[in-house]
Amino acid sequence: MRIGISGKGGVGKTTLSAVLARSLARRGHPVIAVDCDSDPNLAANIGVADADVAAMRPFLDQRGGARTVPAERDPQVLLDRYGHEGPDGVTLLLGARVERAGSG
Ligand SMILES: Nc1ncnc2c1ncn2[C@@H]1O[C@H](COP(=O)(O)OP(=O)(O)O)[C@@H](O)[C@H]1O
Ligand SMILES: [Mg+2]
Repeated sequence: MRIGISGKGGVGKTTLSAVLARSLARRGHPVIAVDCDSDPNLAANIGVADADVAAMRPFLDQRGGARTVPAERDPQVLLDRYGHEGPDGVTLLLGARVERAGSG
């Protein structure tokens, strides 16, 4: 099952995503949570420690391109390289994180 949550800022997307991810994982479902927000905070909402959040590597580059996605696009390779194991066994992936603003 794939669940996508999108919508206007501040309506509770991240909160709902975190509750869903942990609830499903606690029931024994394998859960991969992918934060696609350029200002991501799903990991923190799921309960990952600040130091571990800071150490997570996004699998997209600054422009959201696919430069850093493994060429073979094997999901297991993506998980091995970028996945982070969070509370309740939720595996987290970080799409992008803007480190600095560009021009224009
Ligand atoms: N059901 C709710 N009732 C009250 N406050 C909520 C609810 N869901 C989320 N919030 C609060 O609203 C704010 C925005 O939630 P968040 O999940 O970060 O939204 P989004 O990801 O859509 O921007 C947070 O401070 C969060 O704690
Ligand atoms: Mg959010």
